[in-house]
Amino acid sequence: MCGIVGYIGKREAYPILIQGLHRLEYRGYDSSGVAMISTKGELNIYKSKGKVDALEHYASDKDLSGTIGIAHTRWATHGEPNDTNAHPHYSQSKRLALVHNGTIENYTVLKVALLKHGYTFVSETDTEVVVQLIEYIRDTNHCSLFDAVKEATRQIVGAYAIAVIDKENPDQIIVARQSSPLVIGVGEDEYFIASDATPIIEYTNKVVYLNDGEVAIVNRGEPLHVFDAQGESKDCIDITELRMSIEELEKGGYPHFMLKEIFEQPKTLADCISGRISSDGKRVVLSGVVMNKEKFLNAHRIIIAACGTSWHAGLIGKHLIEDFCRIPVEVEYASEFRYRNPVVTEHDILIALSQSGETADTLAALELAKKKGAFVFGICNVIGSSIPRATHSGCYIHVGPEIGVASTKAFTGQVTVLAMLALLVGQMKGTVSDETLHRVASDLRRVPKLIKDIFKMDSQIQDLAKIFTYAHNFLYLGRGYNYPAALEGALKLKEISYIHAEGYPAAEMKHGTIALIDNEMPTVVIAIKDNVYEKTVSNIQQVKARGGRVLAIVTEGDEIVSKMADYIIEVPEIAECLTPLLTSIPLQLLAYYIAVIKGRNVDQPRNLAKSVTVE
Ligand code: G6P
Repeated sequence: MCGIVGYIGKREAYPILIQGLHRLEYRGYDSSGVAMISTKGELNIYKSKGKVDALEHYASDKDLSGTIGIAHTRWATHGEPNDTNAHPHYSQSKRLALVHNGTIENYTVLKVALLKHGYTFVSETDTEVVVQLIEYIRDTNHCSLFDAVKEATRQIVGAYAIAVIDKENPDQIIVARQSSPLVIGVGEDEYFIASDATPIIEYTNKVVYLNDGEVAIVNRGEPLHVFDAQGESKDCIDITELRMSIEELEKGGYPHFMLKEIFEQPKTLADCISGRISSDGKRVVLSGVVMNKEKFLNAHRIIIAACGTSWHAGLIGKHLIEDFCRIPVEVEYASEFRYRNPVVTEHDILIALSQSGETADTLAALELAKKKGAFVFGICNVIGSSIPRATHSGCYIHVGPEIGVASTKAFTGQVTVLAMLALLVGQMKGTVSDETLHRVASDLRRVPKLIKDIFKMDSQIQDLAKIFTYAHNFLYLGRGYNYPAALEGALKLKEISYIHAEGYPAAEMKHGTIALIDNEMPTVVIAIKDNVYEKTVSNIQQVKARGGRVLAIVTEGDEIVSKMADYIIEVPEIAECLTPLLTSIPLQLLAYYIAVIKGRNVDQPRNLAKSVTVE
């Protein structure tokens, strides 16, 4: 949800800023811009509607000199995507330029006050108010840019990560953060600023994550100065060493990140499991759980708060935890939970489930539960992101950077971690037998290999995609563990192909949705051999009886559904609770190939952003 990049050092800033914007483009891609202080001492801003390529094209004949600059890729919240609303924004005198990720809630009040002081605004954004406010404070208080930013952050309400530069001081960038992420990369006499570490990693693996309320002075060639929320200078700044590699951020020969990430799953799940399941399959260890054993043993209830794909993984987590731990689990849309006055006690555990670790609603749900005394546990992918830093404990899914906006490998990573957590807590509580633990844990270890087997059907899935691309509506049905997999399959298709798709519990279909079935609307049914297999078979018959076309995901060797369905895709047999890890793979591929045939921008679908750091 908007990406920020900044650079100050000895190198030319522009290539670093542009490359950084490309890396962050998954966060927003409706417009972008750069601001640089040129070698002539001018503060140049170049902005363009559309993708970063459009900006590069626009800027190609401009003065791109300078060793200090800030840049931004936007996902519009206030004001339509156009050149004017794109960031960076100038202050009134054009002395300052600022980029912002987040939303300023009281911007109208501030704008009215600034208008009274003679300030004029060219854009419709909340961001322009911030840069004008900083200039106003600096000019009226005759203070430094740092003091003006500090005072402005006291006056603004909302979420922000900002970076500001001043034409009169080409040796300084001031940055601040509240509820939106900001990372500073520390190089040799140079600093890199970004919304996450991906633009930084090719230059340095040493980063400083800014905490909420912190403001930093990034001076050329000087040590970093970070001031905490109380305005105190921090003597000791935590420098984190990243282990991410640049290859992980590249497409590696695939046409899209999404396809690369789908095909990476055997490896990412092996990484996720690595060191957590013993080689004999008899022990599961997640240190974040083990260290808080008592909390899990005494939990009256577990609440899983999440959004989007993570919410679907959370639904599978509910089945797993209730099955193995006999602890009641509620899965909440974080955005609803946070505004509901929910009943939460100190006997509850809230699991914040989030790929990015930055989703604003999930973060707020976590803070609310924490305030009410719950133990909060994070399951995230992005190391050092806001959610892991706000929780009491947690564990990472370790699937590497996910760049494609449609989540794939993070989903299977989340389900894998939830399965391990359920087994571990179940074992600690004595609610899961050694035999079951051994069977399921051993099957988890087989998942990477089984996913590779599913990939052998890639060309068959491509053919199916050709057959089904005509459809305007799709129905996805599943039951039990695979109901969330059906929801996720439908979401994948919607997100990237823009075909309307609805996920439904198979049996619930007859209470309304069945009215939609005709030969125009394909039904994708997950009909694997589980405890409701026969029931699902009769749901398929109901669809067929109404002239519906059925594509079924079945267990290898199935002879019943394969005779009924129009098309089938087989997945290998595995413990029932792990089947979503397999059934979701062909659904990811199906959505991908349909979207490609329809000519969609798979990695950056319209209106979506990878991490939603606004409400
Ligand atoms: C956005 C993304 C989804 C993601 C959701 C939750 O909507 O486009 O792919 O599932 O946010 O994100 P999180 O990072 O919290 O898992």
